[in-house]
Amino acid sequence: MKAATFESLNGKGLKYNDYEYKKRLEHVKKIVVEHPQYQEVYEEIEEVHIISRESVQASHLYVYGLTGVGKTTIVKQYTDSFCRQLTETGTIITVLYVKVPPRLKTPKALASKILGEMGDLFANSGTDEEMGRRIIQYARECQLELIILDEFQHLIDRETHNVLATASDWLKLLTEELNIPVILCGLPESNAIFEYNEQLDGRYPRRILLEPFGFGDKVQQKQFRIFLKTLDEGLPFSEISNLSDPLLASKMHYVTEGVPRYVKDILIEATKLSLKRGIDQINEDSLHDAFHRITRSNQIHAINPFGDNQFDYFNAVATKQMKDEAFIKSQSQNAISKRKKRKIPS
Ligand SMILES: Nc1ncnc2c1ncn2[C@@H]1O[C@H](COP(=O)(O)OP(=O)(O)OP(=O)(O)O)[C@@H](O)[C@H]1O
Ligand SMILES: [Mg+2]
Repeated sequence: MKAATFESLNGKGLKYNDYEYKKRLEHVKKIVVEHPQYQEVYEEIEEVHIISRESVQASHLYVYGLTGVGKTTIVKQYTDSFCRQLTETGTIITVLYVKVPPRLKTPKALASKILGEMGDLFANSGTDEEMGRRIIQYARECQLELIILDEFQHLIDRETHNVLATASDWLKLLTEELNIPVILCGLPESNAIFEYNEQLDGRYPRRILLEPFGFGDKVQQKQFRIFLKTLDEGLPFSEISNLSDPLLASKMHYVTEGVPRYVKDILIEATKLSLKRGIDQINEDSLHDAFHRITRSNQIHAINPFGDNQFDYFNAVATKQMKDEAFIKSQSQNAISKRKKRKIPS
């Protein structure tokens, strides 16, 4: 039994348009686990923030990691811990969160996004320089202490893979003139921006890599199981689902590769199924069926481990890797023979 926040369904299945169904589903989506890596990143942001207050030189931080590891979740939680305050003279915004827009050919789109988030009614007007000056003026007026720029990889052109020079130069100038910490967040490919722009590189000596949960040794297994246990305690059911059971946890890691987004995705699908079936927990049946409802292009060779009492994690991972490698090899051989066929017409 769990702390009684959610009542037993008493075997009565819910429909997707029931209020209770929607409420419980939203609840799953909102669960955030403050795991050790989460705490480390959160505290680093807090430290950069605090030590930069009234300092002659602001510190900066770069947080990077694969898709779904939880970068946005952490920085959003940090932003949300500082409410905007309306005063008689204006709005106080202590922390500003901005998503760097895609296809950023010039600094203008980024500048206007920042201005828009600051509440500027004319966020699109002005030259790059004018917009930069307005950002600095508003930052002072709003008593801004920290900016978070998420999706930093959008400073790389998707088609050419070139770093967008004017935008990265503009950003470097902005961080200098604002003299408040600017936290950059993005996919690992954002590292190319630092390699390209030496001046920006020099301003970001502190970089943190956020990684998926591992399962290779006892310590990693324990951390992943604690993550699952905390999620389990937060699930909208009256009964515990035992997700942290060693065998079930190994199955969860196998299908999600320890990436919080994929863990959440399968739990959301399994929650829907359990609610519809009137079951007071997520069981292996719901996980088994949820697995089939989720498509991930990088998991085409994964078997469905749920319901298999003989599941062996390390064997299953090795088999999956072998199949993945054979698949990649056959794909590249196909590509070579197609190219050959085009050159030598029969
Ligand atoms: N600490 C956490 N606790 C619970 N769920 C989490 C946590 N971190 C991430 N998630 C889940 O994973 C999903 C993806 O997380 P998030 O959007 O933060 O990843 P990201 O690293 O920003 O990915 P991307 O690079 O694609 O933007 C979230 O919607 C959330 O459901
Ligand atoms: Mg993100």
